[in-house]
Amino acid sequence: MPDHQADKSKQQVDNTAIKRYFENPAGGTAATVSMMAHEHNLPASATAYRLQKEIRNASGWLDKIDSTASVLDLGCGAGTWTEIFGKRYKSVIGIEQSSMMAKAARERLTYLSNIRIVEGDVRHTLPEGRFELIFLGGLCMYLNDHDVVELLCKFRSRLTEGGSIILRESTVHQGVHFSEGAYQAVYRSVHLYHKLFDRSGAFHVEVKRNYGYTNLVTAEELVNLRRKWLPFLSKDSTALGSLTWWMLRGMAPISFWALPRILAHFNIQWPRLQNHFFRLSPVK
Ligand SMILES: C[S@@+](CC[C@H](N)C(=O)[O-])C[C@H]1O[C@@H](n2cnc3c(N)ncnc32)[C@H](O)[C@@H]1O
Repeated sequence: MPDHQADKSKQQVDNTAIKRYFENPAGGTAATVSMMAHEHNLPASATAYRLQKEIRNASGWLDKIDSTASVLDLGCGAGTWTEIFGKRYKSVIGIEQSSMMAKAARERLTYLSNIRIVEGDVRHTLPEGRFELIFLGGLCMYLNDHDVVELLCKFRSRLTEGGSIILRESTVHQGVHFSEGAYQAVYRSVHLYHKLFDRSGAFHVEVKRNYGYTNLVTAEELVNLRRKWLPFLSKDSTALGSLTWWMLRGMAPISFWALPRILAHFNIQWPRLQNHFFRLSPVK
């Protein structure tokens, strides 16, 4: 899956290819594919670690939302975050265009009666009603700019008084990168996300870096380096994947805490992908 730094402003992602990819991903379970953690043979505890850190990171925002809230989870995948919302809030609707993912989410969440999973493309399928929270976890990276702007504009009339939108998106240090081929995605910088938010009307925007994602992607980058420089070792070894993860975890204060901050301080753009949480509150 070649990636290209794109100055080609006309480059677009193709929703048909994206739908196809998530209907029939190569390897992994729906849950690991949903977190894009299925290609590097890392142990399940790596995704669990990322998720725990993400929940902690977002909890300041989530705790402010009343337990009577209605939540919309767009591009809900296998339902990881839908489940978190279902346990915290009164009702949740998850929208997902891949039948394989929607089925996995339904199976996982049958025990929570306050959750409904709807199969459909978020660009055309938005349920009636108003919501205290609209969550997009890794969705805008599969949407072209005009679709993101159109959706955010629509959301303004779908939020309750005081309601907000939370996005969790993979980002790049600057500009925009497109992943082309079977796996298509658009990775924008935080600056470009701000521009899209500006085009969508007046929002108060808060941003937090998602270090849980950076920790996981650091392990993935090391697996990529090992595959490149030590090709005689098995590419898909789960033992080597686990070894990479546990070495990093064993040195977490250095590898997971200090390293990303030092690299950011010296403006070293590694790992190539970052991830950010954005909270958007409409300004009257
Ligand atoms: C990276 S996964 C994230 C899943 C989930 N939000 C999470 O955080 O675990 C992105 C999901 O968005 C879904 N998706 C992408 N474009 C979509 C669209 N236009 N409408 C509905 N779902 C979409 C994909 O099928 C995939 O399941």
